[in-house]
Amino acid sequence: MHTHPYVRVPSFLLSSAGSIIRRTSSCCDQTCSKIARSSDAPAVVACVSTSVASSPSYGGRRVIRMNQGLYDYLLAHTREDQVLRELREETSTMRGSSMQVSPEQGQLLAMLVRLMGARRCIEVGVFTGYSSLAVAMALPDSGYLVACETDQVSLSIAKKYYERAGVSQKVDIRLGFAIDTLKTLLNNGEGNSYDFAFIDADKRSYNDYYELLLKLVRPSGLIAIDNVLWGGRVADLQETDHKTESLRRLNEFILHDTRVDLSMVPIGDGLALCRKRDT
Ligand SMILES: C[S@@+](CC[C@H](N)C(=O)[O-])C[C@H]1O[C@@H](n2cnc3c(N)ncnc32)[C@H](O)[C@@H]1O
Repeated sequence: MHTHPYVRVPSFLLSSAGSIIRRTSSCCDQTCSKIARSSDAPAVVACVSTSVASSPSYGGRRVIRMNQGLYDYLLAHTREDQVLRELREETSTMRGSSMQVSPEQGQLLAMLVRLMGARRCIEVGVFTGYSSLAVAMALPDSGYLVACETDQVSLSIAKKYYERAGVSQKVDIRLGFAIDTLKTLLNNGEGNSYDFAFIDADKRSYNDYYELLLKLVRPSGLIAIDNVLWGGRVADLQETDHKTESLRRLNEFILHDTRVDLSMVPIGDGLALCRKRDT
């Protein structure tokens, strides 16, 4: 195992994905460097370790291993609007705070929405609103986000921050099971009319959300799916709980799904980007 006195290693890295930080002298390099303190990111000394892809056919490709110091560096180089920061800070005191997307993920979602010139969006799983706020703030004034959530208490916090950011008029909150909301949208004739969708709710329904959203987004529209790396558990065959199995099945399915172009991005807990093909 490889640690540094100034680097806090999160417990999930030590337990469920120990291989991420384990080091063998033959395949791993380590560079330690001081990192400047920025915003509320802790001052750290980062130890960067790399490994090499296990198959020689990747030509000895070096893979950066994420650790606490490097993640703090990433956070220190992530832009986060003040309202989003305040929402993150309030949520951090709540039960379930780790469900919130990370700042660098929020930044990426906003970037995608802007790049696409998206106007009509759907989110499945709002919680206290971090990702939906990031998306709503990136939308033009005429933009529209259908926000699906079952929990009224967390929605009340989301609403407070939509108001604070001046985006309430862009967010259409739908309280209830997301499957029902998505079916209602389809029954209302809204198929092929959405630009962007984000799935971040109960893992066992991901496949159903994906199928319904494929009908709702337009050709060249994008579906982003969170948690596809599931803390590393998808790659650990000893993990056989329902959520892990269901995410593994979805990952296999979208890999071979010719209806979409795919890119799985190792950001946050893993984000799969699925662009609906034109045919
Ligand atoms: C991982 S959290 C979402 C985090 C959110 N994207 C953020 O950035 O803060 C998942 C949310 O999905 C909600 N949820 C769970 N099952 C649901 C369902 N069937 N329909 C709608 N929302 C659901 C939960 O109440 C929870 O707030």
